[in-house]
Amino acid sequence: MTADARLLPVDSESTAALAATGLRYGLVDTTDRTAFAAWDQADSRGFHEGRLSEQTIDANFANLAYRRTTGVWDDTIPDAAVPVATVSTWVAELTVPGPAIVPAWAVSSVTVAATHRRRGIARALMEGELRTAAAADVPLAILTASEATIYGRYGYAPATTVATLEVDRRRVTWAGLTPTGRVHFVEPASARSIVEEISARAVRRIPGEIDRWGGRFDQHFGLIAPDSDRGRSIRTARYDDADGTAQGVVAFRLVEQDPDIIRLEVEHFTATTDDAYAGLWKFLLEHDLVTSIRARHRSIDEPLPLLLADRRAVRWSEVEDFLWVRVLDPIATLESRRYGSAGRLDLEITDALGFAAGRFRLEVAADGSASVTRVSSVPDAGTDAAAAATATLSLPVNQLGAIFLGGIRPTVLAAAALIAADSPETLALADRLFAAERAPHLSIVF
Ligand SMILES: CC(C)(COP(=O)(O)OP(=O)(O)OC[C@H]1O[C@@H](n2cnc3c(N)ncnc32)[C@H](O)[C@@H]1OP(=O)(O)O)[C@@H](O)C(=O)NCCC(=O)NCCS
Repeated sequence: MTADARLLPVDSESTAALAATGLRYGLVDTTDRTAFAAWDQADSRGFHEGRLSEQTIDANFANLAYRRTTGVWDDTIPDAAVPVATVSTWVAELTVPGPAIVPAWAVSSVTVAATHRRRGIARALMEGELRTAAAADVPLAILTASEATIYGRYGYAPATTVATLEVDRRRVTWAGLTPTGRVHFVEPASARSIVEEISARAVRRIPGEIDRWGGRFDQHFGLIAPDSDRGRSIRTARYDDADGTAQGVVAFRLVEQDPDIIRLEVEHFTATTDDAYAGLWKFLLEHDLVTSIRARHRSIDEPLPLLLADRRAVRWSEVEDFLWVRVLDPIATLESRRYGSAGRLDLEITDALGFAAGRFRLEVAADGSASVTRVSSVPDAGTDAAAAATATLSLPVNQLGAIFLGGIRPTVLAAAALIAADSPETLALADRLFAAERAPHLSIVF
């Protein structure tokens, strides 16, 4: 597997398909600021955002150059240097149940210009990136989606859920454990200098999280434009445990809607321990004059309500699908995680794009580790004696992605007729096997 996705050429099949419609598919040289700036502006326009400032382009140029940055150009348009479509990808580290880490082909910046939509450009790019990832032996692909209707056709399905959490501070009485450490206000630059190490530890605890890149912290901490209104409004604090070791970082800003309604918006929250989690929440909730605290992209099984005397002080909204998973190699993917119980299960996987199709045997040992073998390269060829005696789940590759992190039970997917099992006992077994130690959760959009 390559560690540097930028070195891989663009997919030849997609290059030919796009060339047949007069378009040129290629890689952007991310050391060339002019070329990168044109691509960056196209990406922003594609998401209906404004023209990027030179300051933002500088920050993106510095922070995102490590990504495989691809574009599609139409040489017949007046501004031909600006691509009409964009995608960027990189090999991320995805935390899976165990916890353990698996390399994942992260896909971002999928845009097609309004002048060029609905003529197959996105399909060429998405399929091309999947072929490139599979050729590089990356076992699965991941993304977060602007709309839930786009990516199922390429074999992705939602594997985690997020929600917005809002706390009515006037109802808050802390009733949880007493944190053993202390919170200190620190300047954003100081928080930034320690957050990478803290975040690296934190994301490795939680299935569904991915490793972070520096620019994302700069955004959260207001450091891309520190003198802007937003930059100056950001406050940052650090949590040190009883030994004085930093175990958490938070960034937030106060939004005054009128003098009686002040909302505290959480921009960043990282805690490596339950103690740091409680300490940082207690700190946020202790802001006098603040009426509510709002945090986006939180896990659906946060312990926060259980730390308060009135758990209904916490309300949830915007409960949505978040991380989408597309399995390319079922063996490497399934062997990367730990399972909730021992057992043997055959998976008959269909895949319209062919990558993951076949019948696979998952055998989980008592310690939760798995070995996986391909029984057949076609899904329904399980007619040998061992296959007949093995509990069998039949599912499209999308739904393998859905259950992989333990975020949705096979029983629920079967109730919606999205997967099928040869018996109710098989479904119960699949539920036990794919159970994770906690609800998988990704806390950033990418
Ligand atoms: C979403 C987007 C990338 C699609 O690009 P496109 O080149 O028009 O897509 P294609 O012509 O290749 O369409 C491929 C398939 O997706 C479908 N599709 C395209 N956009 C869709 C959308 N927004 N919702 C649902 N389906 C969509 C097409 O109908 C087509 O279906 P089919 O091949 O199964 O018949 C483009 O509309 C866009 O840039 N949107 C704004 C930015 C955005 O939301 N990007 C996604 C980021 S996660």
